[in-house]
Amino acid sequence: MLSNSLIELDRAHLVHPVASYRGHERLGVRVLKSAKGATVTDMSGHQMIDGFAGLWCVNAGYGHESIVEAAAKQMRELPYATGYFSLGSEAAIRLASELADRAPGDLTHIYFTLGGSDAVDSTVRFIRYYYHSLGTPQKDQFISLEQGYHGSSTVGAGLTALPIFHAGFGLPFDWQHKIPSHYAYRNPVGTDPQAIIASSVAALRAKIEEIGAERVAAFYVEPIQGSGGVLVPPKGWLKAMHEVCKEYDVLLVADEVITGFGRTGPLFACSEDDVVPDFMTTAKGLTSGYVPMGAVFMSDRVYNVIADGAGAAAIGHGYTYSAHPVSAAVGLEVLRLYENGLLENGIKAGARLMAGLHSLADHPLVGDVRGRGMLAAIELVTDKQKKTPLPAAADPSRRIFDRAWDNGLVIRAFGNGVLGYAPPLCCTESEIDAIIERTRMALDQTLEDPDVRAAMA
Ligand SMILES: Cc1ncc(COP(=O)(O)O)c(C=O)c1O
Repeated sequence: MLSNSLIELDRAHLVHPVASYRGHERLGVRVLKSAKGATVTDMSGHQMIDGFAGLWCVNAGYGHESIVEAAAKQMRELPYATGYFSLGSEAAIRLASELADRAPGDLTHIYFTLGGSDAVDSTVRFIRYYYHSLGTPQKDQFISLEQGYHGSSTVGAGLTALPIFHAGFGLPFDWQHKIPSHYAYRNPVGTDPQAIIASSVAALRAKIEEIGAERVAAFYVEPIQGSGGVLVPPKGWLKAMHEVCKEYDVLLVADEVITGFGRTGPLFACSEDDVVPDFMTTAKGLTSGYVPMGAVFMSDRVYNVIADGAGAAAIGHGYTYSAHPVSAAVGLEVLRLYENGLLENGIKAGARLMAGLHSLADHPLVGDVRGRGMLAAIELVTDKQKKTPLPAAADPSRRIFDRAWDNGLVIRAFGNGVLGYAPPLCCTESEIDAIIERTRMALDQTLEDPDVRAAMA
């Protein structure tokens, strides 16, 4: 059978991202064949609602002919143009300009990448260059949050604070520091928003003073921590952290790779917090995953320091595929779709999603429900009082994922029993309701899991 031979070819040749290679060889690949709207279909014809929009990226949903047309038109006309040698393409220039128009504050200079990891990596280079230009190259220490994710590049993976990205890779570097996450459900100071903000502010202050403000270059933060388990800070948290950065002359990088482009409601989540960072990194929803692209937004102030610092010399940072015209053409069309109904629909669907997930709160396994817009999670526990995580023996990331899959739903099942949701913004009311219903089924099935029952006994 075709699917069997594909599974063998995959096993033999395709190295999968963030996978146990041996575990994957044993399980084999599941091949997705087609998709439309919020529905994906696998090789066997099994249909599922994609409650995770691929990898929280297909914000517009699948199958938009206008996006396909925009890419095809650009490919016919000009499939590639370099940005080196002061060359360019109309699509990339227009996309940069449209993004700058919509960006918070003075984040009006756009450097295009191929995705999120190289966007984060680029900011580290720009920030180093910025301080060299200012004559303070000793400001070379970077701070980020525990449970944070900032991609998988050699340098960015050290800003990331998830253990598997460090172990075996010699990371983090000694100039990469961490402070605790706001993680409200498990914060030692409790759930009071003001206490959480005060504790994070104190931790950032203490870390900067421990390193010495004259050494600290930047603080990296996701407006909502995604890969760490969809951890939503209290309202006012980001602004309070920004104030500390300003006080100590530390640059703020808002990593909006997941939260950008309507995922939490508006185009950019930091605008909800009334924060204008010095850099913003984006990817994923920028092209809705139809083609690869990321973008670094740089403030006017930082841009001018770098530009003046270099003078007539070239700034040695660039990629062959930076500002790729086909990706830019897709980005322009995706942006048009967002603003012609998708953002609006996402806000309505997000409210329904959150209400639906909250309706699961009385399920015996649900310890916490959190999220904003179309970015949400439920955290499962075997004891609500003690907040006991699901036992590792119950293999939550595999078994709950499988149960949801069989029920016709794709979710992100984290290893610690957190279930992540990031559906396409195009979801209808009945699709959102189906996400909730199929989740409830998966929860009931998990309650019957012998390893979960043993932990609850
Ligand atoms: C906040 C954040 N930053 C960076 C990245 C890395 O992006 P990419 O996987 O496109 O390299 C991700 C990916 O999930 C992310 O969530």
